[in-house]
Amino acid sequence: MIRQEWIEKGYIDEAIPEGLDLKTEIRRLCEEKNAVVLAHYYTDGTIQDVADFVGDSLALAQIAEKTTADILVMCGVHFMAETNKILSPDKKVLIPDLNAGCSLAESCPAEELAKFKALHPDHKVVAYVNTSAAVKAHTDIVVTSTNARAIVESFPKDEKIIFAPDKNLGGYLNAVTGRNMLLWNGGCHVHEQFSIEKIVELKAAHPAAKVLAHPECKSGVLALADFIGSTAAILTFAQNDEATEFIVATESGILHEMMKRCPDKVFLPVPPSTGPCACNECGYMRLNTLEKLYNTLKYEWPIVELDEELRTEAKKPIIRMLELSK
Ligand code: 13P
Ligand code: SF4
Repeated sequence: MIRQEWIEKGYIDEAIPEGLDLKTEIRRLCEEKNAVVLAHYYTDGTIQDVADFVGDSLALAQIAEKTTADILVMCGVHFMAETNKILSPDKKVLIPDLNAGCSLAESCPAEELAKFKALHPDHKVVAYVNTSAAVKAHTDIVVTSTNARAIVESFPKDEKIIFAPDKNLGGYLNAVTGRNMLLWNGGCHVHEQFSIEKIVELKAAHPAAKVLAHPECKSGVLALADFIGSTAAILTFAQNDEATEFIVATESGILHEMMKRCPDKVFLPVPPSTGPCACNECGYMRLNTLEKLYNTLKYEWPIVELDEELRTEAKKPIIRMLELSK
């Protein structure tokens, strides 16, 4: 479908030949163009398998800052590609589908945050990396779910803080750090959907299983979790813990890496509370396909660009985060 659209818009001039081995071609194009493919754990397993690096949002930002490649292809969502461009302005940053947004990032428009900030001029602003560059430009420091707790704790105990945009992550951070940050009322449509009832049912059927949850989940889900952490932290926990069964409350793409690292363990994805299927996939992440990735590398399109003034402002809070995450 996308190929047809691209042809019609004139971005590409030929169809992908039938029977082409896309994985081989993607690797060949990476070699030829000195390009690297970065993939988030939530993308489809086929994308993760062909990527140069697979990681959580912090690891991918750290790689983007260091790589010597000329082209970065971000198989994730738009704010991740934008972060790459902010950190690597001289590189060509590509994203296989420009429609790969993020409901959490969209829940915090920059102009609304600016107004809220103006109402609380004595507050520092801590923003989750799942935000637009325009929001980051209004921020004192960026965090990811991997480093959020440590970064919040790096502020003096009495520092007044606005945390945006995820109210669940913010609430979790308030609870574990004893802070009272003002929380933006944003959320992720995938993580807010996990069903408490289905976790309880899974737990009853698998009493030895441990519940792993991403901090973007609602507090009711977090209350049932044996471990709460970022995608990278959840993976490490599953790998090192003695349990052999895990109930996983985060996007199900992560199961690909879990099963690769722990082939003898059982991972049970938590279904959402609504809808007929058991899918807990982020539709934005799933816009990344091998076909689009191939075309992106071949035609070097779509490109992620940023206004230079905005890029410079958005870079400051990301660099502060990276400095504190070494
Ligand atoms: P991580 O920071 O754990 O990679 O999570 C990113 C994300 O989008 C979670 O929904
Ligand atoms: Fe955004 Fe949620 Fe998708 Fe993560 S899972 S990229 S927070 S919409």
